[in-house]
Amino acid sequence: MGRALVTIDNVYANNLGTFRKIIDVVLPVQYPGEYFEEVVDKNAKGVFYAQLAYYGEIAIGAVKSRLIANKTGGVKPAGMYIEVLAVLEAYRGKTAGSLMLKYIEDKCKESFQHDIYVHVATDNETAIEWYEKNGFSRDGDILENYYKNTTGSNDAFVYKKSV
Ligand SMILES: CC(C)(COP(=O)(O)OP(=O)(O)OC[C@H]1O[C@@H](n2cnc3c(N)ncnc32)[C@H](O)[C@@H]1OP(=O)(O)O)[C@@H](O)C(=O)NCCC(=O)NCCS
Repeated sequence: MGRALVTIDNVYANNLGTFRKIIDVVLPVQYPGEYFEEVVDKNAKGVFYAQLAYYGEIAIGAVKSRLIANKTGGVKPAGMYIEVLAVLEAYRGKTAGSLMLKYIEDKCKESFQHDIYVHVATDNETAIEWYEKNGFSRDGDILENYYKNTTGSNDAFVYKKSV
Protein backbone atom coordinates (compact mmCIF):
# COMPACT_ATOMS: atom_id res chain seq x y z
CA MET A 1 0.00 0.00 0.00
CA GLY A 2 1.38 3.41 -0.94
CA ARG A 3 1.55 6.30 1.46
CA ALA A 4 -1.78 8.13 1.53
CA LEU A 5 -1.51 11.83 1.00
CA VAL A 6 -3.18 14.31 3.31
CA THR A 7 -5.03 16.99 1.36
CA ILE A 8 -7.61 19.67 2.07
CA ASP A 9 -10.66 20.74 0.10
CA ASN A 10 -13.67 23.04 0.31
CA VAL A 11 -16.85 22.34 2.22
CA TYR A 12 -19.98 22.11 0.08
CA ALA A 13 -23.63 21.47 0.84
CA ASN A 14 -23.13 17.81 -0.13
CA ASN A 15 -20.32 17.15 2.36
CA LEU A 16 -21.57 19.40 5.15
CA GLY A 17 -22.83 16.30 7.03
CA THR A 18 -19.29 14.87 7.07
CA PHE A 19 -17.91 18.22 8.22
CA ARG A 20 -20.40 18.31 11.07
CA LYS A 21 -19.81 14.68 12.05
CA ILE A 22 -16.06 15.16 12.41
CA ILE A 23 -16.51 18.21 14.64
CA ASP A 24 -19.19 16.46 16.73
CA VAL A 25 -17.01 13.40 17.23
CA VAL A 26 -13.79 15.23 18.09
CA LEU A 27 -14.88 18.20 20.20
CA PRO A 28 -16.72 18.06 23.52
CA VAL A 29 -18.81 21.14 22.61
CA GLN A 30 -22.26 20.71 21.00
CA TYR A 31 -22.99 23.15 18.18
CA PRO A 32 -26.42 23.88 16.68
CA GLY A 33 -27.24 23.14 13.01
CA GLU A 34 -26.93 26.79 11.95
CA TYR A 35 -23.34 26.79 13.13
CA PHE A 36 -22.53 24.40 10.27
CA GLU A 37 -25.01 25.69 7.69
CA GLU A 38 -23.54 29.20 7.75
CA VAL A 39 -20.38 27.77 6.19
CA VAL A 40 -22.18 27.06 2.89
CA ASP A 41 -24.91 29.71 3.13
CA LYS A 42 -24.17 32.57 0.73
CA ASN A 43 -26.50 34.83 2.73
CA ALA A 44 -24.94 34.01 6.08
CA LYS A 45 -24.05 36.88 8.36
CA GLY A 46 -20.30 36.85 8.46
CA VAL A 47 -17.37 35.65 6.39
CA PHE A 48 -16.30 32.06 6.99
CA TYR A 49 -13.43 29.91 5.82
CA ALA A 50 -13.85 26.18 6.18
CA GLN A 51 -12.06 23.11 4.89
CA LEU A 52 -12.19 19.36 5.17
CA ALA A 53 -8.94 17.37 5.42
CA TYR A 54 -8.62 13.99 3.71
CA TYR A 55 -6.33 11.03 4.17
CA GLY A 56 -6.56 9.57 0.71
CA GLU A 57 -10.33 9.50 0.11
CA ILE A 58 -11.27 9.51 3.80
CA ALA A 59 -12.41 12.75 5.44
CA ILE A 60 -10.42 13.03 8.70
CA GLY A 61 -10.39 16.68 9.72
CA ALA A 62 -12.33 19.93 9.68
CA VAL A 63 -11.63 23.60 10.25
CA LYS A 64 -13.97 26.56 10.48
CA SER A 65 -12.87 30.13 10.94
CA ARG A 66 -14.53 33.52 10.90
CA LEU A 67 -13.02 36.67 9.48
CA ILE A 68 -13.58 39.89 11.34
CA ALA A 69 -12.18 42.39 8.90
CA ASN A 70 -12.89 45.74 10.45
CA LYS A 71 -13.22 47.08 13.90
CA THR A 72 -16.90 47.95 13.72
CA GLY A 73 -17.49 48.68 17.36
CA GLY A 74 -17.71 44.99 18.31
CA VAL A 75 -15.87 43.51 21.25
CA LYS A 76 -13.52 41.40 19.18
CA PRO A 77 -10.45 42.89 17.51
CA ALA A 78 -10.10 42.45 13.74
CA GLY A 79 -8.49 39.22 12.59
CA MET A 80 -9.15 35.61 11.73
CA TYR A 81 -10.85 33.54 14.42
CA ILE A 82 -10.39 29.78 14.33
CA GLU A 83 -13.67 28.48 15.72
CA VAL A 84 -12.95 24.78 15.40
CA LEU A 85 -9.98 22.75 14.26
CA ALA A 86 -10.44 19.03 14.61
CA VAL A 87 -8.72 15.88 13.38
CA LEU A 88 -10.06 12.37 14.06
CA GLU A 89 -7.94 10.81 16.78
CA ALA A 90 -6.73 7.87 14.68
CA TYR A 91 -5.37 10.26 12.03
CA ARG A 92 -3.55 12.79 14.22
CA GLY A 93 0.11 13.49 13.73
CA LYS A 94 -0.17 13.13 9.92
CA THR A 95 -0.02 16.89 9.18
CA ALA A 96 -3.76 17.45 8.62
CA GLY A 97 -3.90 20.00 11.46
CA SER A 98 -0.86 21.90 10.14
CA LEU A 99 -2.25 21.90 6.60
CA MET A 100 -5.56 23.37 7.74
CA LEU A 101 -3.76 25.95 9.89
CA LYS A 102 -1.64 26.95 6.88
CA TYR A 103 -4.84 27.44 4.85
CA ILE A 104 -6.26 29.73 7.54
CA GLU A 105 -2.98 31.67 7.72
CA ASP A 106 -3.03 32.18 3.95
CA LYS A 107 -6.65 33.35 4.01
CA CYS A 108 -5.80 35.72 6.85
CA LYS A 109 -2.98 37.31 4.83
CA GLU A 110 -5.08 37.43 1.65
CA SER A 111 -7.68 39.34 3.67
CA PHE A 112 -5.01 41.86 4.76
CA GLN A 113 -5.28 40.75 8.35
CA HIS A 114 -2.35 39.95 10.60
CA ASP A 115 -3.77 38.27 13.68
CA ILE A 116 -5.17 34.77 14.12
CA TYR A 117 -7.07 34.02 17.30
CA VAL A 118 -8.26 30.76 18.75
CA HIS A 119 -10.11 29.88 21.93
CA VAL A 120 -8.94 26.73 23.63
CA ALA A 121 -10.57 25.10 26.66
CA THR A 122 -8.27 25.47 29.66
CA ASP A 123 -8.18 21.68 30.17
CA ASN A 124 -7.26 20.91 26.53
CA GLU A 125 -3.55 20.42 27.13
CA THR A 126 -2.73 18.68 23.85
CA ALA A 127 -4.31 21.48 21.82
CA ILE A 128 -2.56 24.15 23.93
CA GLU A 129 0.77 22.41 23.34
CA TRP A 130 -0.01 22.07 19.63
CA TYR A 131 -0.89 25.76 19.18
CA GLU A 132 2.21 26.86 21.11
CA LYS A 133 4.35 24.63 18.90
CA ASN A 134 2.71 26.29 15.90
CA GLY A 135 3.59 29.84 16.96
CA PHE A 136 0.60 30.87 19.08
CA SER A 137 0.94 32.55 22.49
CA ARG A 138 -1.56 33.15 25.22
CA ASP A 139 -3.31 36.49 24.90
CA GLY A 140 -5.09 38.10 27.84
CA ASP A 141 -7.03 36.61 30.70
CA ILE A 142 -9.05 33.41 31.02
CA LEU A 143 -12.56 33.71 29.57
CA GLU A 144 -14.74 32.20 32.26
CA ASN A 145 -17.83 30.26 31.17
CA TYR A 146 -16.96 30.68 27.50
CA TYR A 147 -18.23 27.20 26.55
CA LYS A 148 -21.83 26.41 27.44
CA ASN A 149 -22.80 22.98 26.01
CA THR A 150 -19.61 21.12 26.79
CA THR A 151 -18.49 18.06 28.67
CA GLY A 152 -15.04 19.63 29.08
CA SER A 153 -13.94 22.81 30.87
CA ASN A 154 -16.23 25.85 30.47
CA ASP A 155 -13.30 28.24 30.60
CA ALA A 156 -11.13 29.20 27.65
CA PHE A 157 -7.75 30.71 26.97
CA VAL A 158 -7.31 32.98 23.97
CA TYR A 159 -4.26 32.17 21.86
CA LYS A 160 -2.95 34.50 19.20
CA LYS A 161 -0.50 34.29 16.31
CA SER A 162 0.61 37.17 14.12
CA VAL A 163 1.23 36.40 10.46
C1 LIG B 1 -4.84 19.91 17.59
C2 LIG B 1 -5.09 19.01 16.37
C3 LIG B 1 -6.07 19.68 15.44
C4 LIG B 1 -3.75 18.78 15.64
O1 LIG B 1 -3.99 18.02 14.45
P1 LIG B 1 -2.90 17.00 13.81
O2 LIG B 1 -3.38 16.66 12.45
O3 LIG B 1 -2.62 15.90 14.75
O4 LIG B 1 -1.63 17.93 13.73
P2 LIG B 1 -0.32 17.74 12.88
O5 LIG B 1 -0.18 16.33 12.43
O6 LIG B 1 -0.25 18.78 11.85
O7 LIG B 1 0.71 18.12 13.98
C5 LIG B 1 1.76 17.26 14.32
C6 LIG B 1 2.05 17.37 15.79
O8 LIG B 1 0.97 16.82 16.54
C7 LIG B 1 1.48 16.04 17.62
N1 LIG B 1 1.08 14.65 17.40
C8 LIG B 1 1.68 13.70 16.75
N2 LIG B 1 1.02 12.54 16.81
C9 LIG B 1 -0.06 12.79 17.52
C10 LIG B 1 -1.16 12.00 17.93
N3 LIG B 1 -1.24 10.71 17.61
N4 LIG B 1 -2.11 12.59 18.66
C11 LIG B 1 -2.04 13.89 19.00
N5 LIG B 1 -1.01 14.68 18.63
C12 LIG B 1 -0.03 14.14 17.89
C13 LIG B 1 2.92 16.15 17.61
O9 LIG B 1 3.29 17.18 18.51
C14 LIG B 1 3.24 16.52 16.19
O10 LIG B 1 4.39 17.26 16.11
P3 LIG B 1 5.70 16.59 15.46
O11 LIG B 1 5.31 16.24 14.05
O12 LIG B 1 6.72 17.66 15.56
O13 LIG B 1 5.97 15.38 16.30
C15 LIG B 1 -5.61 17.61 16.81
O14 LIG B 1 -4.78 17.11 17.79
C16 LIG B 1 -7.03 17.64 17.35
O15 LIG B 1 -8.00 17.50 16.60
N6 LIG B 1 -7.20 17.76 18.66
C17 LIG B 1 -8.53 17.68 19.28
C18 LIG B 1 -9.41 18.84 18.91
C19 LIG B 1 -8.92 20.13 19.50
O16 LIG B 1 -8.63 20.18 20.67
N7 LIG B 1 -8.87 21.20 18.68
C20 LIG B 1 -8.40 22.47 19.12
C21 LIG B 1 -9.46 23.34 19.69
S1 LIG B 1 -10.43 24.11 18.42
